[in-house]
Amino acid sequence: VSAAPAHQRTLWPDPAGDAVFVLDQRALPHRRVELRLRGLHQVFEAIAHMAVRGAPLIGATAAYGVALQCCSDAGNAALRQAKATLDAARPTAVNLAWATQRMLGRLLPLPEGQRRAAAWQAAQALAAEDVAANSAIGEHGLAVLQDMARRKGRRLNVLTHCNAGWLATVGWGTALAPIYKAHAQGLDVHVWVDETRPRNQGAALTAWELAQAGVPHTLLADNAGGHLMQRGEVDIVIVGADRVTAQGDVCNKIGTYLKALAAHDNGVPFFAAVPLSTLDLSLRAEQVPIELRSPDEVTQVTGLGPDGQVHSVRIAPEGTPALNPAFDLTPARLVSGLITECGLTPANEQALRALTAPR
Ligand code: MRU
Repeated sequence: VSAAPAHQRTLWPDPAGDAVFVLDQRALPHRRVELRLRGLHQVFEAIAHMAVRGAPLIGATAAYGVALQCCSDAGNAALRQAKATLDAARPTAVNLAWATQRMLGRLLPLPEGQRRAAAWQAAQALAAEDVAANSAIGEHGLAVLQDMARRKGRRLNVLTHCNAGWLATVGWGTALAPIYKAHAQGLDVHVWVDETRPRNQGAALTAWELAQAGVPHTLLADNAGGHLMQRGEVDIVIVGADRVTAQGDVCNKIGTYLKALAAHDNGVPFFAAVPLSTLDLSLRAEQVPIELRSPDEVTQVTGLGPDGQVHSVRIAPEGTPALNPAFDLTPARLVSGLITECGLTPANEQALRALTAPR
């Protein structure tokens, strides 16, 4: 497993052991801003207000939130309250509760005096595992792309939605990891980047990441993907996920479902790249909590003005009612497969239970 390049880290602990640094993704792509999070409340705010976002990254950041809690009060009640607070920051990505659960599972059996040191180690281990899992996803996805490139004998066009690159994880990314590895191997890959309204994670983050890495890419209005698929200009769709159910249904950024429908209709393979920390075999699709965000994100757009400052402008009549569900569910029947750190897996219950069965 190769390490992610140092500049591709989204969070790193302060060596003093009393804070964690993250990139403020709200400032990208216009400015690179680092935040130093000093306590549980600041970690909660960073997740809730999307300074950090992307399922694996909010999990890893929350793990550091538990570690920071241990700096002030590492008692059982304080740790349980910290978990409840962090889990409430965003409802859809299961990685958040998975990470806090794992932290409490490690810490609660220990004497209180040992918890602070153990918490930093556990958070660091969780972050390192995320990088390793994503790197392995990259290798397995690379094999899919290499096979496809051999068969097609020309440039591959990959479509992705939202941002599932290194910014959404601790390092490498999920959906973009195979693309980074393919590009590094000299495979001719081009990425169609969905803008991903309303928050534009594709336009702001994925396009920025790919440009930094020198990967050829083109930004698309969200509605353009189906048209390109009909014209044979999309070879494969790869997205990330915030939660995958036991039945293999994939919950991801709003608009993913429409891309999967169009891919299915046009015979385009549709893959979700997911670490095992994103599987939630306890809920059915209709039980997955879907985050509802502010209608302002729909009625306004935010961008860099000619004065070099970031502004929001209204694009709808004043007072227009708007609805803003942040995620949707793609049924397993539309999913060609899941790319996990363990390899390619069909999106069905039998395969997912076998994958997660204790060995
Ligand atoms: O609202 P966001 O930006 O946190 O949503 C992120 C996504 O939907 C990603 O596709 C998902 O978390 C997978 S990230 C590897």
